Amino acid sequence: MNPISKWLLAISLCVLFLGATVAQSQETCPGEFEPISAADFVSALSPGWNLGNSLDAVEDEGDWNNPPVEEVTFDDIKAAGFKSVRLPVTWAYHFTGSSNTGDSPDWTVNPEWLQRVADVVEMITSRDLYTIVNVHHDSWVWADVTVEGANITMIEEKFYRLWYQIGTKLACVSSRVAFESINEPPGDTEEHATEINKLNGIFLQAINDAGGFNPQRVVNLVGPGQDSIKTSQFFKLPDVNFTNPYAIQFHYYSPYDYVFGAWGKTIWGSDDDKAALDLDFSNIRNNFTDTPLILGEWLPSPVHTETAARWKYFDFLTTTARNYDIANIMWDNGNDLFDRAAHVFRDPTAVDILFQASAGVKNSLPDSTVDINAAEQFSSAYAFHKFGDEVADQTLPFLLNRNVVASIIDGSTELTKGGDYEVAGGNIVLKSAFLSRYFSPTETPGIKTTLTVSFSAGASIQIQLVVWDAPTLESNTSKAVPGADLVVPVTWNGVGKPATMAAFKENGTILVDDWTMWLGPLQQGRTTFNSQWGWDWGRESITITAAAIDLVIAGGQPTTFMIEAYPRVPGNSVNYTLTVE
Ligand SMILES: *[C@@H]1O[C@H](CO)[C@@H](O)[C@H](O)[C@H]1NC(C)=O
Ligand SMILES: *[C@@H]1O[C@H](CO)[C@@H](O)[C@H](O)[C@H]1NC(C)=O
Ligand SMILES: *[C@@H]1O[C@H](CO)[C@@H](O)[C@H](O)[C@H]1NC(C)=O
Ligand SMILES: *[C@@H]1O[C@H](CO)[C@@H](O)[C@H](O)[C@H]1NC(C)=O
Ligand SMILES: *[C@@H]1O[C@H](CO)[C@@H](O)[C@H](O)[C@H]1NC(C)=O
Ligand SMILES: *[C@@H]1O[C@H](CO)[C@@H](O)[C@H](O)[C@H]1NC(C)=O
Repeated sequence: MNPISKWLLAISLCVLFLGATVAQSQETCPGEFEPISAADFVSALSPGWNLGNSLDAVEDEGDWNNPPVEEVTFDDIKAAGFKSVRLPVTWAYHFTGSSNTGDSPDWTVNPEWLQRVADVVEMITSRDLYTIVNVHHDSWVWADVTVEGANITMIEEKFYRLWYQIGTKLACVSSRVAFESINEPPGDTEEHATEINKLNGIFLQAINDAGGFNPQRVVNLVGPGQDSIKTSQFFKLPDVNFTNPYAIQFHYYSPYDYVFGAWGKTIWGSDDDKAALDLDFSNIRNNFTDTPLILGEWLPSPVHTETAARWKYFDFLTTTARNYDIANIMWDNGNDLFDRAAHVFRDPTAVDILFQASAGVKNSLPDSTVDINAAEQFSSAYAFHKFGDEVADQTLPFLLNRNVVASIIDGSTELTKGGDYEVAGGNIVLKSAFLSRYFSPTETPGIKTTLTVSFSAGASIQIQLVVWDAPTLESNTSKAVPGADLVVPVTWNGVGKPATMAAFKENGTILVDDWTMWLGPLQQGRTTFNSQWGWDWGRESITITAAAIDLVIAGGQPTTFMIEAYPRVPGNSVNYTLTVE
């Protein structure tokens, strides 16, 4: 587009919004603003961490799984080495007005909420961390342009008013603060994309109209869904006159089945898996060769993914993002990785892998099954001993990646090489004499100790020594009762968590997603985390969801839920049956 038509569009947008809405009182700021280019901003913020499920909770901070934000969390995150905190904020339930949704044309945001957001921004930037403030779940609460009959005029007006108020409140914050137009805006078609591109322009217009340091502030612009493919297909720079340095932000939760615990897909890391991720990243990079890119969300959560597969994913995704010069901000909903109350990472090895790979260091990783057609899944993230078996040497294959094993520590004791363990090629062999300290045929199932394996370079890897037996139930049947989730008490007898859950009707057919019959033996009939089953840290139980119970009732016959644990080998499961009238 030539400069004159750009200018005319800018004018018409000004008339459209300024004419109709705001009194013009551009903020003037005390102090100096240190301008930063988008490229510098993007490279300085990586790796970053998301303050998920906090200010973005629907309807209010504290309503999801986290208590109100505490300042100490940012000390913890900074101490861990993160350079930035993405700050998702949902504004939808913080407009003033009778319905708490605000009234056209003012759409006034509650000043206390603006202040709360500003205070949290200050908590982050006062620690010299970078931050990205956004408009988060509003994208589906009121700004969804794909809804049949959506009032686009209302969405545009409200979006402008919202960003004008955020831009005014945060007009004078430092250049460590960036604004991201809107989180994951729904959109599939060219028409949706045109509207989302327009929303990026309205956002730019609003923050620039608000003044202060905003015309120089780094912004993050987005495409439909913040999806790498649709962003590549449809993103167009909006036709407004702006000077902001800009980056494009996208999110990556792929492959869906592995990342979301669907259909028993606990395996990841084959050459094909890696090639698919590499292609996705190379495509978005090649579509935007001159634009700084931010991967603003990604995560296979340790709540429901297998450990060795997860570590491979952390390593490969982080290395690939680095190869394509894409900044990396990990999602964390407060229940995934960082335990804010306990001030510890639930999977410190994953975080170490992330930092090492971000710095370009090659990690050594425990190997694990990559063949999705395998009948069992091995994982060198654990030394598994079956209850009742005699203790034997255990061979744990590793992908050393040109490093060598430097030491293995058990608590404060270093294991002796040649005595307690040997290294043979890529294998770490834990000797039975050492394992007998923790394992015996009669040892009670559970996690017995955690070894820390260090290498000549890269992350230290924590391996758990586990005695396992099949999980057991207090009771193995009940009648299907509609309307509520069912919590089934389970004694896990090993790692302490489920791997997945299958569901078969009495007549042998699969309860949900019967096409899984075509998948490998570890996936046939398996259901999906959150949709049909649930689990949380430390729970000696599994949840069968109300939605799954409804399917049982609709099927009209007893249905058996096969609850499976790690290691995924035949027999490491227990069955629970729901009966119907
Ligand atoms: C665009 O904005 C800049 C900075 O606000 C201003 O100097 C310039 O004149 C504007 N250009 C047009 C064509 O409006
Ligand atoms: C759409 O929203 C605008 C602005 O709020 C309002 O004036 C108009 O009446 C709405 N249109 C419909 C059909 O509701
Ligand atoms: C842009 O992205 C699309 C969608 O991922 C892809 O098909 C296309 O090959 C990419 N273009 C370039 C130049 O890489
Ligand atoms: C099994 O039961 C379902 C009803 O839940 C029915 O639709 C299906 O045809 C049955 N299949 C077989 C093989 O009997
Ligand atoms: C349930 O437990 C009883 C004994 O308590 C056993 O006979 C039955 O086979 C079990 N059913 C299933 C489905 O495991
Ligand atoms: C559990 O149920 C599945 C599916 O009905 C069946 O194949 C398996 O043998 C059962 N396992 C046990 C221990 O009863």
